[in-house]
Parts: sequence; C-alpha cells; structure tokens
Amino acid sequence: MKAIVVTDRAAGTAGMTLAERPEPDVARLAGLEGANYGDVVVEVHASGFTGNELEWPSTWIDRLGRDRTPSIPGHEVAGVVTGLSYGTTGLSVGQRVFGLTDWTRDGTLAEYVVVEARNLAPLPADVDFTVGASVAMTGLTAWQGLFEHGHIRAGQSVLVHGAAGAVGSMAIQLAREAGVYVISTGRAAHRQTALDFGAHEFVDLENDAMEGVGGVDLVFDVFGGDIGRRSAGLVRSGGTLVSVAGPPEARPADGLAIDFVVVPDRAQLSEIARRVRDGRLRTHIGQVATLDDAVVAFNPTERIEGKTIIRVRR
Ligand SMILES: NC(=O)c1ccc[n+]([C@@H]2O[C@H](COP(=O)([O-])OP(=O)(O)OC[C@H]3O[C@@H](n4cnc5c(N)ncnc54)[C@H](OP(=O)(O)O)[C@@H]3O)[C@@H](O)[C@H]2O)c1
Repeated sequence: MKAIVVTDRAAGTAGMTLAERPEPDVARLAGLEGANYGDVVVEVHASGFTGNELEWPSTWIDRLGRDRTPSIPGHEVAGVVTGLSYGTTGLSVGQRVFGLTDWTRDGTLAEYVVVEARNLAPLPADVDFTVGASVAMTGLTAWQGLFEHGHIRAGQSVLVHGAAGAVGSMAIQLAREAGVYVISTGRAAHRQTALDFGAHEFVDLENDAMEGVGGVDLVFDVFGGDIGRRSAGLVRSGGTLVSVAGPPEARPADGLAIDFVVVPDRAQLSEIARRVRDGRLRTHIGQVATLDDAVVAFNPTERIEGKTIIRVRR
C-alpha cells in the first residue's frame, strides 16, 4: 500500500516521503494465531495529522521503547472497516467509522490502518470522510478539556487559546453551545475567524494585554510556555487551567492545573458526529490534498489556517 513514512526525527515534516508499505494481513488478523484481539483494519478514506506530531516520542518508539521507524504518522481516520480480528465486537465489515489511532503504532497517512475497534465510532452516512477525519482528535480534545477536565458549566467563562486553530475552533463552539462565555485568543489576523466560530470576545496576543480579560473559570491552553504561565493568573478562585501543551509551569493561586493527552472515546465521538450532522459543530479544514501530494501539503510555503486533511480515496 502507499503510505507517508518518516525515518529521521530531526528532519521534521521535510523528512516525510511517500513509500510502499505492506498492507495489513486481514486473513492473519482474523485467525486465532493473529491474537490481535480488538483490532480492525480500516480502509482509509481521509486522514488527519497534527502539526507537531513528529516531535512526539510515540512517533518514533513503540510501547516498549523500541525504535519503530519507518513510522507512518497521522492519528485521525475516517474510512470503512475491511477486516476484523478474532474476538472483535461492535463493528462490522463495510461499516463507515472515524476515530483516533494508537500513538505508538503506524498511523493513518496510508491506504489502510490497523486500529483497536474501541478507538472508533460509526460515522453517519451523511458526514463526509474528510469532515470525520478533521473532527476526531480536535473534537475529542476540546470536549475532554472543557467538560471532563475543566468541568465547565453554563454561566461560567472560558479563555480559549489558539482560537483559529484546529482544537481552539472546536473548543469555542462546544463551550458556546454549553452556555459558557467564551473569550478567545490568537494572532491579530485570527479575530474574525474566532468570532465567526462563536467567541464572545477576542484577545489579539500580538497587540493586546491578555491580563485585561480579568478572571475566568477555565483557561484552555494549547500553547504552554510564557502564555501558559501568565494564564494561570487569570483563573478565578476554584477554577482550572487545562493544558494540552504539556505539564503547566504555573498553577492558579486557588485552583487546579491539569494537563492531559486526548483519549479515544466512542460515546464522545458519537456526540461530536451528532453535532456535525445538525450543524452545531463546524469543522475547520484549511486544505485537502491527496496522499500523493501529502508531503507538499505538510510543507507549505505559507501558513495555512485550519487543519490539513489528506483524502486518501475519492
Ligand atoms: N494533549 C493533547 O491531547 C493534544 C491534542 C491535540 C492537540 N494538541 C496540541 O495542541 C496544540 C494546538 O493544536 P492545533 O491542532 O489546534 O494547532 P493549530 O491548528 O496550529 O492551532 C494553533 C493556533 O494558535 C495560533 N498560535 C500559535 N502560536 C501563537 C502565538 N504565539 N500567539 C498567538 N497565536 C498563536 C496558531 O496560529 P499560526 O498558525 O499563525 O501559528 C493557530 O491558529 C498543538 O501543540 C498540539 O500538539 C494536544
């Protein structure tokens, strides 16, 4: 099968190449000797990749810390199940699915991927594969940051960093729908995008003082570093700083600082799909490219707002 592979950690996305890799062996997987209980083979129709994935250790090593190169990156998938391993329940061959794949195994920038069934949810027939792949990681990250870790409720306020980004734009919409007052941040050029996604306010981090927003119940941080440190001071008593950019370097004076890595969750994926279908959640896709053009798409000459999705099959 065709796949994008990486072998050189220092090279970043410039080191991506289009290569031939072995197709998953469906027959072996289905047999007892496969013993990959819970795995399914997905014919990939659309794949998503997160900008700094090649910096994650899991791109380069397996669960036992062994070199796993050449690695296939990309952990968001939308496609069709073509094979089930022995003992897999809950999904059928021919079913449309979307979800997240394991960090430490070959990913979705390929014609096929092997993934645990529990990481996937059914993708409704009227949701395009491209859209499905674009909301899996971004939607789950926003959902878990706001509701599971941030415990945000109607009537409270949230400061969402990186509002024009893939995760930030999801967080704005989910928070707004939940009756939360949303203050968003980003570069000056992102103001209109953030407001279009439903933010009540926008703070231009290039020109405005973030401290001007006063206190919030939750900060959703995608940056870390100096912005993350300063954000801790904006959290009201009893509030939370949630980060997806690694362990926070500062904790709110009278609140919690939580970092997390998104986990697959079938029920939450289904909630996200429901919102995409009925228009409550709009995806933020910047460009769509083919697998043949993926290396070029991930090495743009100018910054592209929104997520790059690879349409593996038409
Ligand atoms: N822990 C987890 O489970 C998890 C899950 C998903 C994502 N993440 C992480 O979350 C981060 C965001 O992911 P994403 O996919 O949303 O990325 P993204 O689409 O690139 O969004 C980031 C946004 O923030 C903006 N930005 C970056 N630096 C800025 C600065 N100094 N001031 C103002 N705006 C700035 C970017 O603008 P420009 O494009 O102009 O730079 C972009 O609009 C990444 O580090 C990713 O790895 C973590």
